[in-house]
Amino acid sequence: MRHFIIISNTVDTSASLSINSLTAFGRLDVICRCVTASFYLSDGFRKNVTLSIIFLKTGKIMQIQGEEVRGINPDERAIAGVLRKVFSGKNYPGIIFYSESFDNFISNYDPIVLTDTKSQSENLLHQYNTYIIGDQAGFSEEFKQQLDLYPKASLGSRIYLSSQTITILNYLIDRFEQSLTL
Ligand SMILES: C[S@@+](CC[C@H](N)C(=O)[O-])C[C@H]1O[C@@H](n2cnc3c(N)ncnc32)[C@H](O)[C@@H]1O
Repeated sequence: MRHFIIISNTVDTSASLSINSLTAFGRLDVICRCVTASFYLSDGFRKNVTLSIIFLKTGKIMQIQGEEVRGINPDERAIAGVLRKVFSGKNYPGIIFYSESFDNFISNYDPIVLTDTKSQSENLLHQYNTYIIGDQAGFSEEFKQQLDLYPKASLGSRIYLSSQTITILNYLIDRFEQSLTL
């Protein structure tokens, strides 16, 4: 199993979202791209992935479980349409949406934080299966303190988009798993 956790600093899950303007109430476009990067291959869907999104603005958490989720397509507007339904309180298979503090939520996991800090390296990655990733704004100074407890890993000195970070992680984990089965 792989578990990606995205920290969304700006999306307002209580707003009435339009799929024609994914940036009107925070960067929902970033979240939609993270959904595509987490689950989609050109020829398949990664059932072994869970994506959690921590919406700091509203204290909500959304968890999308690859094993259970049905009927989502890789394009951003279609994903935004699904998220909009869930935000409005409708049930959707494989997606749960609820209120919980980050501290309570994260106490259930043993995560590693993805950071571009140069002193960290990617060596630790394979010892974990839960990865915390920032959105377009990264981690605020205040939030960084909540992450102090957790180990950090870097993918190098280039700063990648959140969705690109997930794509790279999926690739590295694929390679690692393939090397174990050779
Ligand atoms: C677009 S970046 C955030 C940029 C933000 N302006 C900052 O300075 O933190 C989004 C997230 O991707 C991850 N990320 C980007 N580049 C990375 C790298 N080289 N190594 C590890 N994680 C990276 C981090 O979790 C980061 O918070």
